[in-house]
Amino acid sequence: MTAKIEFEGKQYELPVVLGSENEYGIDISSLRGTSGGLITLDRGFKNTGSCESAITFLDGEKGILRYRGYSIEELADNASFLEVAYLLIFGELPTETELEKFHSDIKKESLVDEEMKKILDGFPRSAHPMGVVSSLTSALVAFNPTTVDVRSEEAMYKSIVKLLAKFPVLCAWAMRKNTGQPLDYGDTSLGYVDNILKMMFKKANEEYKVNPVVSSALNKLLILHADHEQNCSTSTVRIVGSSHAGLFVSISAGVSALWGPLHGGANQAVIEMLEAIKEDGGDTKKYMAKAKDKEDPFRLMGFGHRVYKNFDPRARIIKKSADEVLTDLGIEDPVLGIAKGLEKEALEDQYFVDRKLYPNVDFYSGIIYRALGIPTEMFTVMFALGRLPGWISQWKEMRQQKEPIGRPRQIYTGANHRAFVPLNER
Ligand code: SDX
Repeated sequence: MTAKIEFEGKQYELPVVLGSENEYGIDISSLRGTSGGLITLDRGFKNTGSCESAITFLDGEKGILRYRGYSIEELADNASFLEVAYLLIFGELPTETELEKFHSDIKKESLVDEEMKKILDGFPRSAHPMGVVSSLTSALVAFNPTTVDVRSEEAMYKSIVKLLAKFPVLCAWAMRKNTGQPLDYGDTSLGYVDNILKMMFKKANEEYKVNPVVSSALNKLLILHADHEQNCSTSTVRIVGSSHAGLFVSISAGVSALWGPLHGGANQAVIEMLEAIKEDGGDTKKYMAKAKDKEDPFRLMGFGHRVYKNFDPRARIIKKSADEVLTDLGIEDPVLGIAKGLEKEALEDQYFVDRKLYPNVDFYSGIIYRALGIPTEMFTVMFALGRLPGWISQWKEMRQQKEPIGRPRQIYTGANHRAFVPLNER
């Protein structure tokens, strides 16, 4: 199959790639060479594929999300987060033996060098946890130098396991710094998710008992955030890794990209927005009007998506889980009512309907995080904890496919050539 481009009386024929879910992509790799310089331009890459990938499939029109062919609904209801991490990274659901070995290898690496604490100590307590996590993830390289050059499968596996083991420690440390608590080292007798909860919440003067409702809710949330094909932060991880920079620093760059309020930072922005509406007497109509006013930079945070032009399937699951968790924990959170009211209004509002703006993964997640006792500034760190296996799987795929270094072109719009003017003549 081919596609033809005609320009200035000449025709250029380009191959068309067909994916396993019948998606077509015009492969423009040869365009510039065969046309003597023609390139394409696509701000924000809204119509441009960066790679062929076998990891995650999503259909924005139908609201479908699958990891390695398994539906997000089935995985969220039946799998453990570590199973899903294994599935994303290695391509198949693990057998019991494979899962046990994977977890055991992770546990062996779950201590972080004590010297790392000196870097953590350098941050003010007010530092945003996302900045702390991004920095500490990069700093990990200094203590694990063999993780950088991972040409062999074995070296890549070791690097992956180290990161899966140490990243949650850094995330928990960021929270304990933020909340003024002594650091915790975790407990290798616990499951992966329960260990995260223990590192985050164990009080120095009490035994920590895992609440099964909290554990199940976090397991589900981490699975729902685990991967999402070529989103902003994953594309960042891929392009940084394409220079053959190490896995840890590629992930550190992904954490930074995720921090933005248009991306993963939206989950924190949603709760701040809902709180503002609550303080403002619950006047959702005022905020809907602000969201539609082109003169007003305010956006309805947690709404809209580059790909989903239908309900984000993750938002559906999280909304249902929010009701269950708050009921199970006996928590009344008024912002849940405000969120549901806002959703109802938006789904009946022509502006939102015309632009196909639906709640996305970030709209309800913060309500659950808050019910679990997680500070608002830690919400995006929780997103990063979930997305870690997805970032790793995409980075591994990019390296194993031997992708070239990412280096987009541009159309220059600046000054044409002009002669230098000496300072005393300007
Ligand atoms: C995530 O890509 C991924 O997969 C990301 C993610 C993942 O799992 O990795 O799903 C996670 O990042 C979810 C998105 C979280 N961000 C937010 O909730 C922030 C609020 N949403 C928006 O800023 C926006 O919807 C984006 C950034 C999510 C998508 O932006 P696009 O695709 O670039 O769309 P756009 O900004 O061009 O908007 C199209 C129109 C514009 O109006 P017009 O110029 O056509 O009149 O829709 C309007 C926008 O003004 N619009 C909104 C809106 N989102 C889009 N108007 C009000 N409120 C909003 N939230």
